[in-house]
Amino acid sequence: MQSESTTKVQQLTETAKAMVANDKGLLALDESNPTCHKRFAKYGIPQTEENRRSYRELLVTTPGLSESISGAILYDETIRQQKKDGTPFIKVIIDAGIIPGIKVDAGAKDLANHPGEKISEGLDALRTRLAEYSQMGARFAKWRAVITIGDGIPSPGCIDANAHALARYAALCQESGLVPVVEPEVLMDGEHTLARCSEVTEKVLRAVFNQLYLQRVILEGMILKANMVLPGLSCPKQDTINEVADATVQCLLRTVPAAVPGITFLSGGQSAELASERLNAMNIKFKSRSPWALSFSFARAIQQPALEIWQGKEANTHSAQQALYHRAKCNHDARRGEYNG
Ligand code: 13P
Repeated sequence: MQSESTTKVQQLTETAKAMVANDKGLLALDESNPTCHKRFAKYGIPQTEENRRSYRELLVTTPGLSESISGAILYDETIRQQKKDGTPFIKVIIDAGIIPGIKVDAGAKDLANHPGEKISEGLDALRTRLAEYSQMGARFAKWRAVITIGDGIPSPGCIDANAHALARYAALCQESGLVPVVEPEVLMDGEHTLARCSEVTEKVLRAVFNQLYLQRVILEGMILKANMVLPGLSCPKQDTINEVADATVQCLLRTVPAAVPGITFLSGGQSAELASERLNAMNIKFKSRSPWALSFSFARAIQQPALEIWQGKEANTHSAQQALYHRAKCNHDARRGEYNG
């Protein structure tokens, strides 16, 4: 008979593999209410709970979504919401064959004594919250740490604090039977070069995997959600798609153990098309020889065109769902190196 811990490791490993199987990826719809409001404000969509609910209903009921999407990341409010007819979103997702997940960090707050730097909070009582989400049907969880590049930053104190929190969270997830999606995001904002982003991303990933090792996190039962290695948004030199693909994969090969089943990129403010093109280039060049799946976990780069069409109006729901389906399919194609802008 297998021990309880062997079964748990097998389950975590199977879930993590399923999250990146068949060239599918994750749809992030886990914006906190303040972030969701920011996105709505851009289109003058009133910031009400009902609008947040109907927008999320639009997303999760998109016909055919599971052809490209393996998992969906929800937010605490969303995992408790229902369709207009009373069906819980989590049931809709599971019935569609999509694995439900949940964002569990409590947001990035100012790090004391470190001007311009952030630490993600949420470890207090996390064990209890994870047990509740697991009970509700979630099978994975996400925690985002934010690293800013600037003059003299990131500091070692900021990198260490965030890496430690990510590892503590990941260990708690696995204890609860949830696959941790470990997201140390190096932001795109700034004038920094591609080389500087590569240097910082490498440093951050080394610190994160060192902490994951210290906290005994099972690498086969986790997913890394990474930023692509990119020049800053205000950097005068914007490198080519192939240069970005090369720099990103080189950085990951140096830092991410082969036991990790998948790397799902965040989009971080890239346009939907550019995010797909860069993912596509990575898969064309490296899919056959990279140890992990090179996948996606986009929020903006999948949702943005749909939100722009929806504008908070029910009459636009069908067209918005078509746009969402299309972007999800583009990224599914990019995983096969078959995206054609
Ligand atoms: P973006 O793809 O919009 O950067 O969001 C990713 C994310 O972290 C949400 O989980």
